[in-house]
Amino acid sequence: MTDSRRYHITTFGCQMNKADSERMAGILEEMGFEWSEAPEQADLVLYNTCTIRDNAEQKVYSYLGRQAKRKHEQPNLTLIVAGCVAQQEGEALLRRVPELDLVMGPQHANRLRDLLEQVFDGNQVVATEPVHIFEDITKPRRDSTVTAWVNVIYGCNERCTYCVVPNVRGVEQSRLPEAIRAEMAQLGRQGFKEVTLLGQNIDAYGRDLPGTTPAGRHQHTLTDLLYYVHDVPGIERIRFATSHPRYFTERLIRACAELPKVCEHFHIPFQSGDNDVLKAMARGYTREKYLRIIETVRQYMPDAAISADAIVGFPGETEAQFENTLKLVEEIGFDQLNTAAYSPRPGTPAAVWENQLSEDVKADRLQRLNHLVATKAAERSQRYLGRVEKVLVEDQNPKDPTQVMGRTGGNRLTFCTGDIAKLKGCIIPVKITTVRAFSLTGDRVEMPVAGATC
Ligand code: SAH
Ligand code: SF4
Ligand code: F3S
Repeated sequence: MTDSRRYHITTFGCQMNKADSERMAGILEEMGFEWSEAPEQADLVLYNTCTIRDNAEQKVYSYLGRQAKRKHEQPNLTLIVAGCVAQQEGEALLRRVPELDLVMGPQHANRLRDLLEQVFDGNQVVATEPVHIFEDITKPRRDSTVTAWVNVIYGCNERCTYCVVPNVRGVEQSRLPEAIRAEMAQLGRQGFKEVTLLGQNIDAYGRDLPGTTPAGRHQHTLTDLLYYVHDVPGIERIRFATSHPRYFTERLIRACAELPKVCEHFHIPFQSGDNDVLKAMARGYTREKYLRIIETVRQYMPDAAISADAIVGFPGETEAQFENTLKLVEEIGFDQLNTAAYSPRPGTPAAVWENQLSEDVKADRLQRLNHLVATKAAERSQRYLGRVEKVLVEDQNPKDPTQVMGRTGGNRLTFCTGDIAKLKGCIIPVKITTVRAFSLTGDRVEMPVAGATC
């Protein structure tokens, strides 16, 4: 292969996909491909896709249509669909878009080189069979030089009645603590400052691992993993996402309170504030249990930021049941909430139930919930006003080059005047002068703050 070939990846969906894309980009660069920002100038275009809701899936087809057309003028173009739509549709994608060279599910991301070799031998390839994910064979091309994703557990063993993820991501597979620590140690040596540990249900980590933990406990858990990795040199901050209420223990909360590098932010989706809807969703917990978790978090860490996901308009959801979601949001006061209208997904139980709600009802509820979320987030932001927050500087503010931007421990996006060339990767004290619902602005202050690095 000549080394002048260029590749482009567009990534849809969640952090799992972002992490997979970074690994696939790493493989392509090892093969001699160079990054092209513009898809139309690339010789290889890869769409890493998401199918969590119908609109995510449809977006992929419109992007693909453009590239498929281009392939008629440029037969050397290599066209790849990876990720969750690839897994869901498999062979059917080839019938829909015959121009495709490769359809590959998320479990095959680390195998991109092998699969491409088959393509370059003249085959049209579909790789969607369930496989054990190969470990540690890739050097990701990371988007940031400051923060990095580290996969901890792949897949999902739950069966929420609305969700495609178990179908497209396969069963749980935890990585060994030693492999996770080794990846973090490498990141620390490369100058990364923050790691986000990733899993669909990260607090279910370890259930599938045999043997004892490095500290000799019989069962591997996320809590043990945090104790095991928290002192990795160079890594100043550790985050983890996403937590499932079923596995979120007091022991985990205590560890987060105790370990200084673990950020005071928790992302724990509740999906609905109504017990009957939670039951129909097969979530395996109640509203009361969820409230107890948040109460315990706030006992140990009164200032912790809490975010979550919620779905409105689940089949059969009544107005009163929806109001229970509003009440929960009112009661807890989330720092951030990802909201979505229920979208029926192929192969999921709830999609074929007869009690579907109209798009109008869903849209109305979504709008009402979003309004409340913005109000509550703005209230939550108020507590930062006048305070000094430690901000890890990640980048320049794209809208104002005199400013840098980064995140507080609680994950609030924060802007302040500064020179990115000097501050990138530094944790700096910032006195907050302006608060908005989802972001803050402040001034850098010269004051000694524990944990500040520049
Ligand atoms: N594993 C995580 C969430 C993964 S999917 C958990 O269990 O909490 C990310 C979010 O997408 C979910 O939290 C849910 O809010 C939303 N989602 C999943 N399926 C959906 C569907 N069919 N319609 C609308 N939103 C959905
Ligand atoms: Fe989907 Fe439920 Fe698994 Fe989350 S826990 S990924 S919502 S099936
Ligand atoms: Fe989407 Fe797949 Fe993530 S469906 S949300 S990219 S796991």
